[in-house]
Amino acid sequence: MIALCGIIGYIGNQKASEILVKGLKHLEYRGYDSVGVAIANEQGIDIRKDKGMIDDVSINLGFVSMNGHIGLGHNRWATHGAPCKENAHPHFDCTKKIVLVHNGVIENYLRLKEELAAKGHRFVSDTDSEVIAHLMEEQSKTDKPFYAFIKSLKKLKGSYALAVMFADDKEHIYIARKGSPLIIGVGKGEMFCASDIPAMLNYTKTFIPLEDGDVATISKNGYKISDIEGKAVERKSITVDWDLEMAEKGGYPHFMLKEINDQRHFINETIATDVSAAKELVDKCDKIDIVACGTSYHAGLLLSYLLMRKGRNARAYIASDYQFIANPDENTLVIAITQSGETADVLQALKFAKEKKTKIVGITNIVASSITRIADALVYLNAGLEIGVAATKTFMAQLAVAYMLVYPKEKLENVRSIIAGMLEKENEIKEIAAKLKDAHDAFFIGRGISVPIAYEGSLKFKEISYIHSEAYPGGELKHGTLSLIVKGIPLIAIAPDDETAPKLMGNIKETKARGAIVISITDNPEIKKESDYVIELPKIDKDLYPFAEIVPLQLLAYHVSVLRGNNPDKPRNLAKSVTVE
Ligand code: M6R
Repeated sequence: MIALCGIIGYIGNQKASEILVKGLKHLEYRGYDSVGVAIANEQGIDIRKDKGMIDDVSINLGFVSMNGHIGLGHNRWATHGAPCKENAHPHFDCTKKIVLVHNGVIENYLRLKEELAAKGHRFVSDTDSEVIAHLMEEQSKTDKPFYAFIKSLKKLKGSYALAVMFADDKEHIYIARKGSPLIIGVGKGEMFCASDIPAMLNYTKTFIPLEDGDVATISKNGYKISDIEGKAVERKSITVDWDLEMAEKGGYPHFMLKEINDQRHFINETIATDVSAAKELVDKCDKIDIVACGTSYHAGLLLSYLLMRKGRNARAYIASDYQFIANPDENTLVIAITQSGETADVLQALKFAKEKKTKIVGITNIVASSITRIADALVYLNAGLEIGVAATKTFMAQLAVAYMLVYPKEKLENVRSIIAGMLEKENEIKEIAAKLKDAHDAFFIGRGISVPIAYEGSLKFKEISYIHSEAYPGGELKHGTLSLIVKGIPLIAIAPDDETAPKLMGNIKETKARGAIVISITDNPEIKKESDYVIELPKIDKDLYPFAEIVPLQLLAYHVSVLRGNNPDKPRNLAKSVTVE
């Protein structure tokens, strides 16, 4: 199940509603099926919310006309209950004096709901989140807000990032984190909280990421952090040097296209990242297990191939299955690859690995994300913020890190110009996209180190075009899939002129004979002749082909998506950071 949501809270002297609306725009990647804000003022608490995206709902309901200096906002990604006005956050208790926003899943909500209903509480939504407001209402009968808050938290099973306001206590916002990210933004005479840093970057560069189990109270002039018993804890603040422009589209129609083009700019920053601690662990461990999901898994698979080619005992696992099939011990190094650093499947695999006493290397793009607190050694991707749900530049950065764990950095010195050269082929790729846009199925093949690239090309293609697609090592087609290859089916062959080319040529011929339209990404003269469309690869170090191959596949997916009228930045049913197993 996907459970995401974006939370923001503000307390200070500015108009809270304006800050919340701007922040929610930056959190839209975390969920965009419904949105709402709550503002507290002398009249009480006003909630406005509805199904839809922030731009539309905000205008229709006049969010920024709401007056007040303290408020909460929320972008929802439905888990419990359909996307609709009632299920949108914020949620009230019965008295409308307590209001909250929540990200996560409350596993025992049904039992709590029954108990509260028996005490006379009335529920207006199907969400698990609403029960927390009623729990606090019940607890507030005997306790002041902070204690009502922590006593309620103790009754919850599951995960949460929570922010709560009380109509009778307009000087504080109460927040807590367990299993879902929440960060305090420290301003001057004002304080923020949000699921992610970009939502607050307009106002401050100083942040305090909460840890699991933390509870905090924020007020205009400060914050207090404690554990769930109310015992004070110290958390370090961090200062980031990102500016908001990095999170803007920079003149491109979509974040995804900007991020594909960004690849030529930041790759040298990735190559400059410090891999020494991670490499030391890689060099000395007997056995290497790589865990990751989706796009990050494809980077992990390539890393496993590079290590295996060097004779190392390495294997890539889909993170969600790791605990069921792997057998790590204290001599195993687990390398976790996750751009967000928050993917629940990866964190669960690492929990399992920790119990087996493995060492852990974390590869992530997000400073202060959950994985950074678990890993023994960290490698930052330095790719800048990635807003498009489809991972592109972070995949490229993951590839670069994978290579740096196996080869000396110098090997990558031409990667930037390889990427730049491939980006120049956008117009011809757009023409090929026009031929593919009405396809119902597509197949991607490669061999050797091009197989993870075929997998990634296929994932990118299907997730934003909504065209069914599959990827295989070329040799596998004849073991079943060939029966699906009929006249007009697009076959995208990742066919560099390396030792795989002669065998891949055979696979291409098999599909041509059955009427497939062959699009080759190749620099092999024979394969070029056999293909209907060619995207030319440069003559480069054969180990580096994946850096060139992935760029046209990203562009192809992007343009097919746009030609089909989709929004590639926000593919249906998907979200950027998947924080529930
Ligand atoms: O944040 P992570 O790298 O752990 O995310 C893992 C996957 O959810 C992610 O790579 C997903 O497959 C991509 N967004 C697809 O483009």
